[in-house]
Amino acid sequence: MDFEAPPTDLVTLTRHILSQQLALGEKATGDLTLLLMGIQVTSKYIASNVRKARLINLVGLAGASNVQGEDQKKLDVLSNDIMVNALSASGKVGVMVSEEIDDAIIVKGSKGTYACVFDPLDGSSNIDAGVNVGTIFGVYKIQEGSTGGISDVLRPGKEMVAAGYTMYGSSCNLVLTTGNGVDGFTLDESLGEFILTHPDIRIPDRGKIYSFNEGNSLHFYPPTIDYLNSIKFPANNKPYSARYIGSMVADVHRTLLYGGIFGYPDDKKSKDGKLRMLYEAFPMAFLTEQAGGAAITGSQRILDVIPKNIHGRCPVFLGSKDDVADVQALYAKWD
Ligand code: AHG
Ligand code: MN
Ligand code: MN
Ligand code: MN
Repeated sequence: MDFEAPPTDLVTLTRHILSQQLALGEKATGDLTLLLMGIQVTSKYIASNVRKARLINLVGLAGASNVQGEDQKKLDVLSNDIMVNALSASGKVGVMVSEEIDDAIIVKGSKGTYACVFDPLDGSSNIDAGVNVGTIFGVYKIQEGSTGGISDVLRPGKEMVAAGYTMYGSSCNLVLTTGNGVDGFTLDESLGEFILTHPDIRIPDRGKIYSFNEGNSLHFYPPTIDYLNSIKFPANNKPYSARYIGSMVADVHRTLLYGGIFGYPDDKKSKDGKLRMLYEAFPMAFLTEQAGGAAITGSQRILDVIPKNIHGRCPVFLGSKDDVADVQALYAKWD
């Protein structure tokens, strides 16, 4: 019987990031590498807490609410603290924005040259049922002449230098872009290392899956309703399949791998939709574009939007480029 040996040349996340740094030569300071190493550690630590949550009394509410009026779960608060501590300690971050903290965090005395925006735990309504959740992050370089302030993060997503997410699911996956394509890593728990398992993720140009919370249909505007009807009652009698987890990380992860479209539109009740620009829409739009897909608000490219405040929201349609183009055409018709 032929013996197929296990791989011996593993590409870990650390090796991958270091090789990208080396490729940049003397231009690279290594600061982004250290910041991403910090995110790697936080991902492992959050993953381990998510996995044990039921066993160590980490399910349920923390007893406080965040600036957007959401009741914080214990794991929202813990994940936030893990991220804030690790990124402060990296010495490379001067400014942070977290979903769970009202104001931007300016790291005192930091000489950090990066700003990091994050959703420490995405999909937290799913936690207590053991459904996939995640962490989303985006990174800006602090602007020339700035000592690190809010203006360093009130910038369009196209100025991000890195973005990614970690999904805590049946496997723990970290998906990353530094503006040079998208790579996916899977945590090997026995090694404690993220291993490159999905190099150069590319979204198919057209998919067969749509992912919207159609429970909001009563409030949807005509272009969204028309679009959903077009894929549910198509002329070719081949309707799309519906998949909606309710954790953006998981819904986007599936969309990146299988193709199709994920949407959280604006509607009559939520004039800017639900998803937050800085730490949900921008990082996911950056990843989607880097994987060959598209990400729009309906009428506009998401990465061109200029945020007015750190917790501002925007509508999101992202995924396979032909599917997203269909939405855009309907928005253009109704404008
Ligand atoms: P978070 O748990 O970080 O507050 O994010 C929740 C978001 C996102 O994960 C998901 O796509 C969306 O909320 C789901 O919203 P609905 O429950 O309204 O469908
Ligand atoms: Mn929340
Ligand atoms: Mn979220
Ligand atoms: Mn969250």
